[in-house]
Amino acid sequence: MEKISIIDSKNHVNEVVEINGWIANKRSSGKIAFLTLRDGSAYFQGIVLKETVGEEAFAQIKNLPQETAVKIIGEIHEDKRSKFGYEIEISQLEVIGTSGDYPITPKEHGTDFLMDHRHLWLRSSKQHAIMQIRNEIIRATYEFFNDRGFIKIDPPILTGSAPEGTTELFETDYFGQSAYLSQSGQLYAEAAAMAFGKVFTFGPTFRAEKSKTRRHLTEFWMIEPEMAFTHQDESLKVQEDYVAFLVRNVLDHCEYALDVLGRDRDVLERYTQTPYPRISYDEAIELLKENGFDDIEWGDDFGSPHETFIANSFEKPVFIMNYPAKIKPFYMPLAPGRDDVVICADLIAPEGYGEIIGGSEREVDYDVLAENIEKFGLSEEEYGWYLDLRKYGSVPHSGFGLGLERTVTWISGIEHIREASPFPRLLHRLRP
Ligand code: 4AD
Ligand code: MG
Repeated sequence: MEKISIIDSKNHVNEVVEINGWIANKRSSGKIAFLTLRDGSAYFQGIVLKETVGEEAFAQIKNLPQETAVKIIGEIHEDKRSKFGYEIEISQLEVIGTSGDYPITPKEHGTDFLMDHRHLWLRSSKQHAIMQIRNEIIRATYEFFNDRGFIKIDPPILTGSAPEGTTELFETDYFGQSAYLSQSGQLYAEAAAMAFGKVFTFGPTFRAEKSKTRRHLTEFWMIEPEMAFTHQDESLKVQEDYVAFLVRNVLDHCEYALDVLGRDRDVLERYTQTPYPRISYDEAIELLKENGFDDIEWGDDFGSPHETFIANSFEKPVFIMNYPAKIKPFYMPLAPGRDDVVICADLIAPEGYGEIIGGSEREVDYDVLAENIEKFGLSEEEYGWYLDLRKYGSVPHSGFGLGLERTVTWISGIEHIREASPFPRLLHRLRP
């Protein structure tokens, strides 16, 4: 007899098969029991008839606690009433692992309780759907960049540098000297781009953010492509193609997960249409002022209400270009003819999900970069190797960083970034 996954039920209609899984929920009457079964691939219904399994087995099955692990044998049937479309009529059930008093019941639970039980909460159908979308975004990322000739390079996690500013660093002791958990792999990606042309990194990054928002983690995964001989306008094209590709692949491969989450497909379809609108920082400030925002001046960084208002003014993700130099990192070059804004762009997701990409062209001139390093109070010793890149065949190059969890949150349409990571790290959350 074939051992199958629930997700493959459609290929085994009217066949007797074996399935290994857990009982997620159950209800029963005198003669029939309905088990919600999950095996990690999907959830569906198992039906147990008293007359099929006999009185004793039926009584035992009826009383099995939630999350009992079982091996079942039964026949797959079409089930037109359920979203999933199939069910199994169980003829044999064997308990593989017992359970009891499972803390997460089908009732409502508070967020703190669920977060304390994240190791169990992951088993719920909503979390399962989100992790499938996360996995698809990861898969599609590798496909997108590999198909376009990018090489994946893995930057170090323990570093001496602080590319995104020195205020949000996790410091650790490295045999008597200070090391930091990486905020970004970018500087190493730049070195690799000078070696391999087009590269991308994909790994964990860390920010000791004191902010307690729906958009911030202290540990998150970032995809950072870097391209030699590439100006910002070409980079923006890669960015919008990449984001549209992610949405397209989630639409094509995560139908079931999107159903579970109740995500509107038509809205997502819109985001697969490129190009994305572009406005300058100057224009964004004007737009806000015209619409009664008195709490922001030219030179300020946007807060979440500002980003949401700007995003809502467009139907698709929107690039905000050329921010003031003083609110951006040391490696961004000044825009031609301006001494106050740099060649950069943030991509703001629709529906209030905020910034999902930060990117820029990179300063290529040795002297200007050395001056910036000094101006930003960074140590020349630490950035000597980075300056070397401007000494030996320095070329125009651009790159960007996409936050994985921000993107998962947006495409899934969920409320809070904590559900986009299997074991999220937040200001007050280190366990489980
Ligand atoms: O805008 P950021 O800080 O840019 C960089 O780190 C550049 N070095 C990227 C590059 O050009 N190679 O971060 C990039 C993205 C943000 O747009 C956001 O999606 C995500 O990383 N991000 C966070 N996600 C979750 N929690 C946080 N605390 C985040 N901080 C940034
Ligand atoms: Mg940013």
